[in-house]
Amino acid sequence: MDRKNGILFTSDLQQELKAKFYYPDADPLHGTRLFFENSGGSLRLKSAVEAKAALEMFPDCPERIHERSLYLKGLVEEGTKQILEIMFGAKSGALITELTASQTMFRIIGTIMENVSGGNAVTTAIEHPSSHDAVEFYCKQTNREFRVIPASHVTGGIDPAEIKNYVDKDTVLLSVMAASNISGTIMDMEAIVKEARAINPDIYIVSDAVQHAPHCAMDVEELQVDAMNFAPYKFFGVRGCGFAYVSDRVAKMPHPKLTAKQEMVWELGTPSPGNFASILQVIDYVCEIGGKFSTSTDRKELYLEGIHRIHLQERALLYHLLEGSAEVPGLRHIKGVNVYVDTEDLTKRDLIVAMGIQGIDFTECVAEYQKRGVTVFERVNTSLYSKRIVEALGLSGAIRVSPLHCHGIEDIEAFLKITKEMASTYSES
Ligand SMILES: Cc1ncc(COP(=O)(O)O)c(C=O)c1O
Repeated sequence: MDRKNGILFTSDLQQELKAKFYYPDADPLHGTRLFFENSGGSLRLKSAVEAKAALEMFPDCPERIHERSLYLKGLVEEGTKQILEIMFGAKSGALITELTASQTMFRIIGTIMENVSGGNAVTTAIEHPSSHDAVEFYCKQTNREFRVIPASHVTGGIDPAEIKNYVDKDTVLLSVMAASNISGTIMDMEAIVKEARAINPDIYIVSDAVQHAPHCAMDVEELQVDAMNFAPYKFFGVRGCGFAYVSDRVAKMPHPKLTAKQEMVWELGTPSPGNFASILQVIDYVCEIGGKFSTSTDRKELYLEGIHRIHLQERALLYHLLEGSAEVPGLRHIKGVNVYVDTEDLTKRDLIVAMGIQGIDFTECVAEYQKRGVTVFERVNTSLYSKRIVEALGLSGAIRVSPLHCHGIEDIEAFLKITKEMASTYSES
């Protein structure tokens, strides 16, 4: 198999990785199940959960000078450094931490909108509400025109050629997600940023990487974006925190801050060392995968190799999901199954498939999958959270199927066999 269609881990490596996660194949209360809803919250690394739990046992404030306190403070500092330099590829700027990724997004967009002049702000029709609604909210608050770029019904993403129809010299901010959490389409951020900066060199560009970050390297310097965020609970880690990078020029903007702290500090109150210890374990894990393919001893190089290998493994799983094997046909070939916004070039897609089965509505279909031991999720236009996004893709809904890199071909085949049985039951009844 070539890179275009991904490269699978060896079966031994895949099994080894799966064993590092809690409950990959069964829920302790509800029994055996395939967890193919990783875009809604990924399988958790044991090491990431344990690192957080271990630190929650200590009462010490990380702002004191005794040994335990200094150790906790060191973890926060090291975590901050590694998130910025290794995960975001940042050479400068600052880290924002909040309880959720959505909160980081509202804080960043609000700060830019309140501090920069200009007549309009632009987002896209397929953004998660955290960025779409933040742009809308602050346009209202600051009396700006709110503009929304439509999505391509063919690719499920944003066509860079659309940028010139929405961004102008008066645009304060452009917000485009790095990859869609419904279609899995990876945006051509390089081209989008280039188009926007050609029109308005000073524009502030914000990218929600919550969907994309667990699957592919991020590089804020290469992309020249002002802000990017991710959610650890979708990145093999824990719930209860969101992390975001902001560029120097955003970090220095007036923002709610403790007076005594330096201008680049955004933290309000004492950070939780457990969250940083946990994300350091996620970085360790990705580096460990990198180490299976590289002899480098440099942590950033190992991380980049590891995430690249995750991306290739996931592309190979996506290929199998769509095309099937000698054992069972893929989604593209099962009668009665529709694959939405299905593009040939898998290099532009994360491991998500938006699909439906003829003869059964999406919500009922998800329940039928669950009865057969498969956890997936439906995005439908009757849900307040999904309506705008699915309709922007020309759909009334879709079942989102999102396995993870630690799944193997046998997991994909099990899903395909269940899907084939369901399709023959419902599409022919
Ligand atoms: C693409 C995308 N952005 C942002 C978010 C929001 O993340 P959080 O729940 O941490 O605020 C999500 C969560 O579903 C998402 O999928």
